[in-house]
Amino acid sequence: MKDVRTDGQRKRVFIRTYGCQMNVYDSDRMADVLRPLGYALSESPEQADLVVLNTCHIRERASEKVYSELGRLRDLKLERRRDGADLTIAVAGCVAQAEGEEIVQRQPAVDIVVGPQAYHRLPELLARAARKSDERRFDGQRRPGAGVLDTEFPAESKFDHLPAPSEADVRAGSAFLSIQEGCDKFCTFCVVPYTRGAEYSRPAVAVLQEARSLVAAGAIELTLLGQNVNAWHGEGADGSTWGLARLIREIAEIEGLVRIRYTTSHPRDMDDALIAVHGDVPQLMPYLHLPVQSGSDRILDAMNRGHGRDHFRRLVDRLRGVRPDLALSSDFIVGFPGESDADFDDTMRLVDETGFASAYTFKYSRRPGTPGAALGDQLDESLKTARLAALQSLLGTQQRAFNDSKVGTIVPVLFAEAGRKPGQVLGKSPWLQSVYVEGDAGMIGSIVDVRLRAAYALSLTGEVVTGQSPSRFEAAA
Ligand code: 5AD
Ligand code: SF4
Repeated sequence: MKDVRTDGQRKRVFIRTYGCQMNVYDSDRMADVLRPLGYALSESPEQADLVVLNTCHIRERASEKVYSELGRLRDLKLERRRDGADLTIAVAGCVAQAEGEEIVQRQPAVDIVVGPQAYHRLPELLARAARKSDERRFDGQRRPGAGVLDTEFPAESKFDHLPAPSEADVRAGSAFLSIQEGCDKFCTFCVVPYTRGAEYSRPAVAVLQEARSLVAAGAIELTLLGQNVNAWHGEGADGSTWGLARLIREIAEIEGLVRIRYTTSHPRDMDDALIAVHGDVPQLMPYLHLPVQSGSDRILDAMNRGHGRDHFRRLVDRLRGVRPDLALSSDFIVGFPGESDADFDDTMRLVDETGFASAYTFKYSRRPGTPGAALGDQLDESLKTARLAALQSLLGTQQRAFNDSKVGTIVPVLFAEAGRKPGQVLGKSPWLQSVYVEGDAGMIGSIVDVRLRAAYALSLTGEVVTGQSPSRFEAAA
């Protein structure tokens, strides 16, 4: 990489990512934007010239974490300044979008606030921040308005301006591909429609091109991303309108691509064509994250989810009808305003009847500006805590049972990283379970058959099956 620093040193950026996989993808893209400016990735803020916090606004606790991290960065910046050097601090992501100027008010050490739709303009923002930093002479005092802000939703798509992905975007054979952003569904608890803006689908041609580049760069697994990924639609190469189902069928044609996943989907957008794809396309992994949030019709209605519990149950039955080994994962919120004991029991019953392989559970967090925040009958924290514990216990039992059910079978595992113990490697099964085996780093990035020996709450262990062709199993999955 070309060295652009006049003193002969390369610049370094440390990017900390909070929240969802969309942010993981965005962090990679920011690294791609910064690379031509001479920025290499650094392992810690202490070794960086620029620190980017890619933030999450979804729940209160996620937002608050950012401010404590900014406090630590401010101290680091002051230390640097005492030594005649500097540290540039940028806040990106959904907190940046939602709070904008307020961030600089609360933490004046921040140089740049950049929303998720403006990452392609980072070079310009950095240049402006560098000019400003001489004027600002930040000394720990409050100087409102000193940071450089860009939180608009530009009319042009940032995707048209971001550099094409490279080898750096493929980690151990796996890559994310953002195909859709934003949301128009306005669930009454959720900030996403306000922070990420209206639903936007990337054109099919651009998605297919990026998918091919990622596979050419070494990806054997692609995860298609979107806040509402199954709402994706676009004009296909043949001029007709494609939905996600058709897009997946086209992507599955790419030679060398072995695994396809997509996340996060909404039960309302699980159409017939998409259900059929789960039965027809072997590369599509038998795992689906399908957030349901609650099992109570009354609460689903108050959440503005646009469907009831029966719709969800029917979807699951149909998906399992075409792909019997499909593992389901979901998101649940407990303690939405007005949630009664009976409503919560409905959620427990839905979980019991459905059976989940994994799940994310949350206590309802009152987010300013959302309709849910204005509702009466907000629940006590202690009640939310008790319901969360009961739900987690049930889901934990189900996850363990699911892991147990795979013991003794041979499954293809995509190895991703070194395990916790020396001589161990960690990978993912088709059902996204963590699998540990004895092995060496040479296995990372490839799919190897593993006989599963033991199951635990959150992982499995096994041993590599020797003398087998890995791809044969995957194709038969
Ligand atoms: N409180 C609690 N959980 C929330 N989520 C979104 N907004 C809130 C909120 N205000 C959860 C939902 C969503 C996941 C990404 O985060 O379950 O599916
Ligand atoms: Fe938020 Fe609902 Fe949109 Fe998901 S569908 S991003 S929960 S508003």
